[in-house]
Amino acid sequence: MIPSPKKMRVFKKSFWVTSKVLFQGDSALPTGLYEYIVGELDDFYAKAFKYIELDDDNVTTVAICLAPMHKKVPQDYYLLKVDPHEILMAAETPNGLIHATQTLKQHFWDTSFNQIDEYDTGADMRCLVIEDWPSYPWRGLHLDVSRHFFDYKFIRRYLDWMAALKLNKFHWHLSDDQGWRVESKRFPRLHEIGAWRKEQDGSRYGGFYTQRQIKLVLDYAAKRGIEVIPEIDIPGHAQAILAAYPELACFPKDFETLNVWGISEDILCAGKDSTISFLKDLFTEIAELFPGQYVHLGGDEAPKEHWKACPHCQKRIAKHQLANEEELQGWLVKTLAKHLQGLDKTVIGWDEILDGKIDSKPIVMAWRGDGIDAARLAHDNGNRYVICPNNKLYFDWKQSDFKDVPGAHGITRIRDVYGLDLSKYKFEHKKLFLGGQANLWTEYVPDNATAKDLVHDRLYALAEVFWSDPPDKDYEKFWRRSFELARFI
Ligand code: ACM
Ligand code: ZN
Repeated sequence: MIPSPKKMRVFKKSFWVTSKVLFQGDSALPTGLYEYIVGELDDFYAKAFKYIELDDDNVTTVAICLAPMHKKVPQDYYLLKVDPHEILMAAETPNGLIHATQTLKQHFWDTSFNQIDEYDTGADMRCLVIEDWPSYPWRGLHLDVSRHFFDYKFIRRYLDWMAALKLNKFHWHLSDDQGWRVESKRFPRLHEIGAWRKEQDGSRYGGFYTQRQIKLVLDYAAKRGIEVIPEIDIPGHAQAILAAYPELACFPKDFETLNVWGISEDILCAGKDSTISFLKDLFTEIAELFPGQYVHLGGDEAPKEHWKACPHCQKRIAKHQLANEEELQGWLVKTLAKHLQGLDKTVIGWDEILDGKIDSKPIVMAWRGDGIDAARLAHDNGNRYVICPNNKLYFDWKQSDFKDVPGAHGITRIRDVYGLDLSKYKFEHKKLFLGGQANLWTEYVPDNATAKDLVHDRLYALAEVFWSDPPDKDYEKFWRRSFELARFI
C-alpha cells in the first residue's frame, strides 16, 4: 500500500468481495460524497467481477460513516475495518472518508487480485484494521500548462493519480512567457492573443481552458478532496500577458508570446497605476473563478533591468522610500496580497517574494537549490512554507542517466525523492512547515505520455514522504510495494 498507513493489522480471516457488495451510508454524508465513494468502489468491483445474483445470506456490506470519533484524532484521520461480513469506513471529515476509499481500493489490489475465483464472481479480501492520517497538510503536485498545453481531460487523469495517492493540492501554473491559459471575460485579449504563440517553424501553438472547463476540473478535484491552486505568475514570466496588453510594460512595444525557453527581461511595470489596477481586476476574476482558499502570484525570476530604467518604477520607489527594485517587488506583492486578502484569499509565492520584505501572511514555496535556506528565511519571518526543492522535487528532471529517457536539467531518482530528509526543513515553529509538492515544468514535456512517464513513479515516493513520513525508510520495501501498485494507478 502507498502511502503506507500509520497503523495496520492484517488478520487471517477474509471478506468475500463481489459485485454485489451493498453500500450503506449514514445520513450525515454530504451530497456527492456518498455517490463519489460508491461510484469509486462499485465501478471497481463491477469491473473486476461478473455480475451475479446472491441469496440474502451471502450479502456483505460496506458501511460508510461520517461522525465524531470516540477519541481525539488527528486532522483527516480515518478508520478502515474489514471484518468477515462488513467493511466499515469511518471518519470525522469528508477527506478522511475519501482517503479510506482509496486505501480500500489499494487493499483489494494488494490482497485480492490473485484470489479471484475461477468463475470471476468474487475474491477473498484479507480482514484488517487500519488507522491512518496524513503527517502534513500540504501534499501537492504542480503542472505547468504554459510551456506546453494539457487539456482539461488530461488534468482529470492527473487528479486521478493524485487522489489515488492521497495528494491534496493541485498547483496549476496557468500563465508564463509562453502562454496564458484561462478564458478571461474581463480581459479577453489574454486568451485571444496570449494563449497562442508562433513556433520557430511558423506553426501556431497554444490553447486555453474555457471557464466551464475550469469549473469541471474544480468539481472533479473537490470530489477527490483536492484543492486547486491557480498560479498567475507576475511580475516576471508574464510575456504572454504583455503580448495581449503591451501597455502594462515599462517600455511598451510589440511583444510576442515567447517561443523559446528561458527568462525574459520583459516584465510587468510595477510603477504604473494602470498596471496595478489591471492586476487587481485580473486577480479578482481569478479569485471568483477559483473559489478555493489560495491564489499563487508567482514572483520568481523577475529581472529588474527595465525597472531600474523606468521613470514610473523609480517614482514609485521614491514615493514609498523603498531601498531598491527588490523592495519594489515586495511592495507589489504586498499590494496584491492585501487586495486578495480582502477577497478572503491566502496568497502564495515562490521564495523570491522573501527578497522584497513581505509580511508573514503569504505562504512561501521554497524551491531554490535544496530549499533549506528559503525555508529558514520563511520560518524566521513567520511565514508558513511548502517545500519543492529544485534538486529533489522537480519532476521535469530525468529519472536516470539512461540514454533517451525523458526530462532535462539534472537527474532525480525515485530513491532521491524517497530519501528527502524532512527534518532539515523543520525549525522551532514546526507548524509553519506545511509539507511539500513536486513541480512539473513542461519545457521538455511536449505531450501527455511524457508527463505521465516523468510524474508517475516518483509520485509514489512523494506521497509516502509527505503522507506517511516513515520513521525508518526502507527503500527496497517501498520499491516493491510501488511495483505491485504500478498497474493499479
Ligand atoms: C521556478 O522554478 N522558477 C519556481
Ligand atoms: Zn516600470
